[in-house]
Amino acid sequence: MDQSGFVISLLSANQDLAHQPFGGIVPEIACRNHSLNLLPLVERVLEQVQVKPDEIAGIAVTNRPGLVGSLIVGLVTAKTLAQVWQKPLLGINHLEGHILAPFLYDKDRLKPELDFPFIALAVSGGHTSLYHVESLGVYSVLGSTLDDAAGEAFDKFAKMMGLGFPGGVKVDRLAASGDPTKFNFPRSLIDEDSYQMSFSGLKSAAQRLLVSLNVSAEKPAVGKLAEDLCASFQEAIVDVLIAKLDFAVRRLGLKTVVVTGGVSANSRLRARATQWAQGRKLQLHIPPLVYCTDNAAMIAYAGALRFARGEKHELDLGPSPRPLADDFKSGTFQKGRLGRVQRT
Ligand code: KG4
Ligand code: ZN
Repeated sequence: MDQSGFVISLLSANQDLAHQPFGGIVPEIACRNHSLNLLPLVERVLEQVQVKPDEIAGIAVTNRPGLVGSLIVGLVTAKTLAQVWQKPLLGINHLEGHILAPFLYDKDRLKPELDFPFIALAVSGGHTSLYHVESLGVYSVLGSTLDDAAGEAFDKFAKMMGLGFPGGVKVDRLAASGDPTKFNFPRSLIDEDSYQMSFSGLKSAAQRLLVSLNVSAEKPAVGKLAEDLCASFQEAIVDVLIAKLDFAVRRLGLKTVVVTGGVSANSRLRARATQWAQGRKLQLHIPPLVYCTDNAAMIAYAGALRFARGEKHELDLGPSPRPLADDFKSGTFQKGRLGRVQRT
């Protein structure tokens, strides 16, 4: 990663297979695999890019929010590298990485202009929030899900359908040939003049419908029924996300919008958001698939922009399961996953 957002090399160690038998992320397995994978990955990246330690400006690492075990493994590794190479260290909020991810570029993609201010919808397995992004580091949470994240809803639905883990991409694939109007799933809070979202009612409705159709993880739906169920479920989520984006644009009058996070890989969300943005004459930025789901490049980019401003953390930096109070402008906290936290 250089400071313009150009991705020189990006490697990831996928753990999906390790978590698949459990139908979701198992924290202990996640941090154990991180500790096994991380240093070999760093070595491979350094070999690939032929970068010498003295060409590295600093070490950026996710230290919040997230599963503390995994955050600790990353932090310890980053601190060790920072100390050995005598580089500054920066802990980055994972969500800031997602917010900036659409502005990454590489040899296959032109540089998108990072033009503040904008509205960002970050939609992943752990988070579903709308932000007003004024400038680097000046973010307000407009609203969040009150319960499940959209990606979590996709994953739970896929589990109930017997599609396996992670479910979002599997639902997406089946939905492509399904009828999105076949089943009418609830779209909670869609007509409310508020930024808040809720996906737990959708999950319960899906559970009831699947019971009535005699579909379960043990007796998965197949063929057209599976496709229609996936398409209808997906449409309900996409309808809500687009409605909330539309509300934010009308309220704030901004012309630039970002849709990011793992769920922004969803083909229906990408198509609908593109169509909506064209209709409203908005500039829409969605990352290419490789930068939608969690990746190191988005954290490095946030770090590069902050290193350029002279920011750094001390080596006693700790992890935090939640964002820090300074991460978002005061008075913008919402109940739920983005609550106020103590400084670590
Ligand atoms: O951002 P991410 O990689 O991790 C978190 O920060 O949570 O997001 C992962 C989430 C999972 O819930 C996964 O099912 C969902 O993103 N996801 C998708 C698709 N690809 C990944 N959801 C819907 N359609 C997809 N194509
Ligand atoms: Zn993420």
